[in-house]
Amino acid sequence: MRFDVITLFEPMFAAVTENGITSRAMQRGLWSLYTWNPREETEDNHRTVDDRPFGGGPGMVMMADPLARTVRRIRRSGNVGRVVSFAPNGTRLTDETVRRWVAEDRDMVLICGRYEGIDQRFLDNYVDETVSIGDFVLSGGELAAMVLIDAVVRQLPGAIKELSTLDESFSTGLLDAPHYTRPEVWEGQAVPEVLLSGHHANIAKWTREQALELTLRTRADLIEKAKASGKLSETDRL
Ligand code: ADE
Repeated sequence: MRFDVITLFEPMFAAVTENGITSRAMQRGLWSLYTWNPREETEDNHRTVDDRPFGGGPGMVMMADPLARTVRRIRRSGNVGRVVSFAPNGTRLTDETVRRWVAEDRDMVLICGRYEGIDQRFLDNYVDETVSIGDFVLSGGELAAMVLIDAVVRQLPGAIKELSTLDESFSTGLLDAPHYTRPEVWEGQAVPEVLLSGHHANIAKWTREQALELTLRTRADLIEKAKASGKLSETDRL
């Protein structure tokens, strides 16, 4: 999968290209990343990419033209995939969307806004969807773009062990159960006994109960969704 990212801060993306699972997946050829600075597509001496908002108000707005020129250059270079921008007023990114995008296997063009936002005419004419990663305001789209890249790339076949993504948080409709590793007793606290029993059916039952309990306590909204989509079974006691 190919990602082309439009950003004023290209070095930030070393976070995903040079570290951990995403970096290893890139070395294996599972994905590629190209960054593009919209200043390269300006013609004035100051290389201006933003201006004051019509109608007044605080802050600056990213101009449509340098962004549009950059998208057209990316298209000419071969990426014909989905164009996504990032803002708090976008559609919330979910595990379901991430899995659908992985399955569709289309390239992506990611637009990272800075300042107060992006000229709406660019969004209307060049962007397929605007994504939010949560109800809070970041100082730019870069971290949100990296969140999307990380969430997608780790699901690409071959990025991590297939089983790891099958029972993690959200894929089951519930939050993930707690995990434990050695030592068996740490700071006076023992690992739950069932996990040491080697009894696979009991371990599965305990894990499911823990996931249900945790989800009910912290994200009751997910329980309703899981019921509606048939992800809760008759044997799940609530
Ligand atoms: N840009 C600024 N805030 C954002 C958010 N919450 N999600 C995505 N992009 C953003």
